[in-house]
Amino acid sequence: MPADQKNNYVNKLFYGDNLDVMNEKIPNNSIDLIYLDPPFNSNRNYNMIYTTNTGQPVPEGAIAFCDAWELTEDKLDEVQEFANELETEDDNAYFADFWNAWVKALKYQNPKILAYLVFMARRLRVMRYKLKDTGSLFLHCDPTASHYIKIILDGIFGHKNFRNEIVWSYSGNSVPKNFFPRKHDIILWYSKKDKCNFYPIYVDYAESTLKRYNHIDDEGRRYKISALKNGIQEIVYMKEGKPCTDVWNDIPIVRKKSERMGYPTQKPSELLERIIKATTKKGDIVMDPFCGCGTTLDAAQKLNRKWIGIDICMLSVSLIEKRLKDNYPLVIMKGRDYTIDGIPVTMEQVKELIHKEDTSKNEGRYQFQYWAIEKVNGFASTKKSGDGGIDGSIYFYKDEKKTLGRMILSVKSNKSVTVSMIRDLIGTMENNKADMAGFICYADPTQDMLNEARKAGYFKLQYNMFNTEYKKVQILTVEEILNGKDFELPFTRLLKKS
Ligand SMILES: C[S@@+](CC[C@H](N)C(=O)[O-])C[C@H]1O[C@@H](n2cnc3c(N)ncnc32)[C@H](O)[C@@H]1O
Repeated sequence: MPADQKNNYVNKLFYGDNLDVMNEKIPNNSIDLIYLDPPFNSNRNYNMIYTTNTGQPVPEGAIAFCDAWELTEDKLDEVQEFANELETEDDNAYFADFWNAWVKALKYQNPKILAYLVFMARRLRVMRYKLKDTGSLFLHCDPTASHYIKIILDGIFGHKNFRNEIVWSYSGNSVPKNFFPRKHDIILWYSKKDKCNFYPIYVDYAESTLKRYNHIDDEGRRYKISALKNGIQEIVYMKEGKPCTDVWNDIPIVRKKSERMGYPTQKPSELLERIIKATTKKGDIVMDPFCGCGTTLDAAQKLNRKWIGIDICMLSVSLIEKRLKDNYPLVIMKGRDYTIDGIPVTMEQVKELIHKEDTSKNEGRYQFQYWAIEKVNGFASTKKSGDGGIDGSIYFYKDEKKTLGRMILSVKSNKSVTVSMIRDLIGTMENNKADMAGFICYADPTQDMLNEARKAGYFKLQYNMFNTEYKKVQILTVEEILNGKDFELPFTRLLKKS
């Protein structure tokens, strides 16, 4: 990129599926470094537990992302689609044969891993196109799937472009009964071509080495005196810095409270700083297509690199914005230094989000639910199918003893809405002993719905001397939300704090 363009470059944060974003918004041959820390196939849901402004966790997690894989009909179509994509490319013909053999072997033996691998392989293939010829990709994973991923990377990047398998080892207290404590992650480094940017890193010497070089000269340089040989002893100076190897055991997991963002899989900034320093220089572009709470972006910003982050989780975008605001209050400003793409701000964009064709059915509808719940500062339900019709909740204190009150939320993307939806919501509110219910809809509510909601009466807050009434069932349209309207709720409501 020419120098003048570099100065005008605006960092970018995308909300959406990285496959779509990369295909639609990122030019080929434009990125110097891709770091990705995707879901690991660990087969569990990571629930990001928020603390509230009171420091208490709310009694429900909000979904951060799902790391559980099923080989559904849709996924099987994807497996075939990927095979077709590979066959249309000359340089991947050999990998296409390999992939087909794998599909045969895994389809019945280990369908879950196949579902995971097709997700990864499709994205890795696109990532290679996005890299500049001198660029590199660092893929962070753990031993659950690293052996499969390495073969996929060999196929997509070519085994000649394999650079390192970095072992990041850390300590921790858990001691399993049936195997050794698992205390390392794997970071696979592949370059796009044989010549890639690399700036060696030097690290501190171990205590034992420092002890051997136990003299210091007038200029502060460490040296040792060699053993007596042929009546001669020599002064041997310690080299400045020890070249960093592929085993990194000097970077602890995130412990500092000031660094912790509450994200379950957050990686330490130091780890990212090392990778960025080793493969890029100032002004280069770093992309993290699974950017989570933004560790890569934060490290890139700190080191004066340009950045692009993508995440499918709306909460991640708000966390990253907060992180940037806290860490670089004067330097980085939304609009001027970075843009956010993909979060709807108009009715048309909300419609697009709802109807987004995605790899899994109805994904757009769920993303719409997360968007709506986030906009009203609610906590999304952890289960995709909803919690008996509850898509999310808002919490507040009902009295001085801090008894938790709850407004349940139902979000509807339907083209038309009916009074039966309000009746169902009132039923769910009563069955769950919730205090209030909020209905969010894309379509305009009918007069019957408004009447039904009104009939539900009022919730009375009795908090110290405050004695206020709130409509028990409230309806908000998407248009009203976009215009900044919110539910009318007790002033004691609990807000998310990351
Ligand atoms: C392991 S976390 C990354 C954590 C990150 N390294 C950090 O330090 O915060 C994986 C992230 O990938 C995101 N993700 C999962 N599937 C995605 C997809 N298809 N497109 C974009 N992001 C996705 C999840 O929402 C999650 O935030």
